[in-house]
Amino acid sequence: MKRVITYGTFDLLHYGHINLLKRAKSYGDYLIAAISTDEFNWNEKQKKCYFSYDQRKSLVESIRYVDLVIPEENWEQKISDVHKYHIDTFVIGDDWKGKFDFLKDEGVEVIYLERTPEISTTQIKKDLNKDK
Ligand code: CTP
Repeated sequence: MKRVITYGTFDLLHYGHINLLKRAKSYGDYLIAAISTDEFNWNEKQKKCYFSYDQRKSLVESIRYVDLVIPEENWEQKISDVHKYHIDTFVIGDDWKGKFDFLKDEGVEVIYLERTPEISTTQIKKDLNKDK
């Protein structure tokens, strides 16, 4: 069984996220989505999520392409995660291109997928504010 992992915040779940998860799953048989915790988002990315970690987890868990959701709590855990979960392939959007190539040294295939154009959580927030 080929195991794939991806990481992200997945706040205000949108079709760009679904598209990413669908393509990630197509690289294997079992997909793990590591979702940033609220603390990690705030402390490391200065992002405040609209939905809590538990809400985002529950949404992503209900997507048919996702087999398991785990928390992303720090930048370092990727190396231990790929071993702990016996990961073959790491997939993420190309806004992170080159950033996780170090996982190749752990024997993991690293794939950057083209982002779906014209949609992001940040854009949704901006657009909704604009129309107020
Ligand atoms: N993603 C994508 N296409 C989009 C938006 C996101 O492929 N249009 C991918 C990202 O590249 C990442 C995953 O979905 O692999 C989760 O991205 P996340 O940062 O949670 O979503 P964004 O919409 O980019 O959020 P933000 O605007 O807060 O950066």
